[in-house]
Amino acid sequence: MKKEITFLGIETSCDETAAAVIRENKTETAEVLSNVVSSQIKEHEVYGGVVPELAARAHMENIEYIVDKALRDSKVSLEEIDGIAATAGPGLIVCLTVGLNIGKSIAAFSKKPFLGINHLEGHALSPGLETKIEFPYLLLLISGGHSQYLIVKDVNQYEQLGTTIDDALGEAFDKTAKMLGLGFPGGPAVEKFSKFGDKNLFKLPEPIINRAGCNLSFAGLKTAVLRESKKISNDKLKYSLAASFQFTINKILYKKTKIAIKEFKNKTKKKEVKLVVAGGVAANKSIRENLEILSKEVNCKIFYPDLKFCGDNAAMIAWAGIKRFKKKLIDDMDVSAKSRWPLDINAPYMKGPGLKL
Ligand code: KG4
Ligand code: ZN
Repeated sequence: MKKEITFLGIETSCDETAAAVIRENKTETAEVLSNVVSSQIKEHEVYGGVVPELAARAHMENIEYIVDKALRDSKVSLEEIDGIAATAGPGLIVCLTVGLNIGKSIAAFSKKPFLGINHLEGHALSPGLETKIEFPYLLLLISGGHSQYLIVKDVNQYEQLGTTIDDALGEAFDKTAKMLGLGFPGGPAVEKFSKFGDKNLFKLPEPIINRAGCNLSFAGLKTAVLRESKKISNDKLKYSLAASFQFTINKILYKKTKIAIKEFKNKTKKKEVKLVVAGGVAANKSIRENLEILSKEVNCKIFYPDLKFCGDNAAMIAWAGIKRFKKKLIDDMDVSAKSRWPLDINAPYMKGPGLKL
């Protein structure tokens, strides 16, 4: 009988200290034996954004307890675990190092294989925790640091179709919330207060909407929100600006996803498209509803991770670990933290001066 594989996952790339124990079951989806996430909202709230040194300190204070709790909650002993996976990048080096070091120590002590995971691969494979999705599929990865369209050909095989040329979508949500004083983290705050506003009140720009394929841009939109926010004073107008921002994002994603689906079809020669929307921003219900409308129009089936697997978590890191372990993609103990680590290493770097679209 085929042995079931069990992994301990550790995630500390940004402001969540997380550990999880995951077992792959016979249907090749996951049994989540434990999933512990400690968010640092309180530490960063007063600054309206993540402060790296504070994040690293909080990881150091919490990591042992979180890993221990994940192991205890899972009721699995260290001997029963087949490998340890920790996020190695991309992210804040001071934060990544905390999770990497404890992961390596546990692996060395227990003589288990160690895997340094790309956080983006964690998001990319995350819907597989609950649903088996055959490769290839189209991925819209929208988080606090990334906004990309990729073809997921297999574990470890990615082709980038488009990316943001400036801000990530989560960043645009966070900055909009900060400018409007709606709270931290920004994404959920903008989504919440949008419901009380008029989405048609402000006409905001849709940068590079008619050019550059499925590449994305949000900096001009953010600047427009800043300009408008300076002119308004009452809450009703604030909520309408948030609603107009959300509405504009929906229009941009609708159009760009349609282009990405076309490119996916051309490249893979597939007539039916499976689209996975993952990352923290994939929790946004308005984006989900809007993409559902598109899916009916273009015959595409959309998969979202459960809300608890959209934001940063260690279940997706353990899951990516299991998938890589099965392909014998095991790392040495000298794997180091990386601040930048694209899934498609051949993709052009799209930020900075001299960019021509
Ligand atoms: O994937 P994630 O937890 O961390 C990174 O890998 O960056 O994504 C965090 C981002 C933040 O910018 C947060 O504001 C955004 O996801 N986010 C949302 C929502 N929930 C989280 N954005 C829009 N709507 C939401 N409901
Ligand atoms: Zn993330």
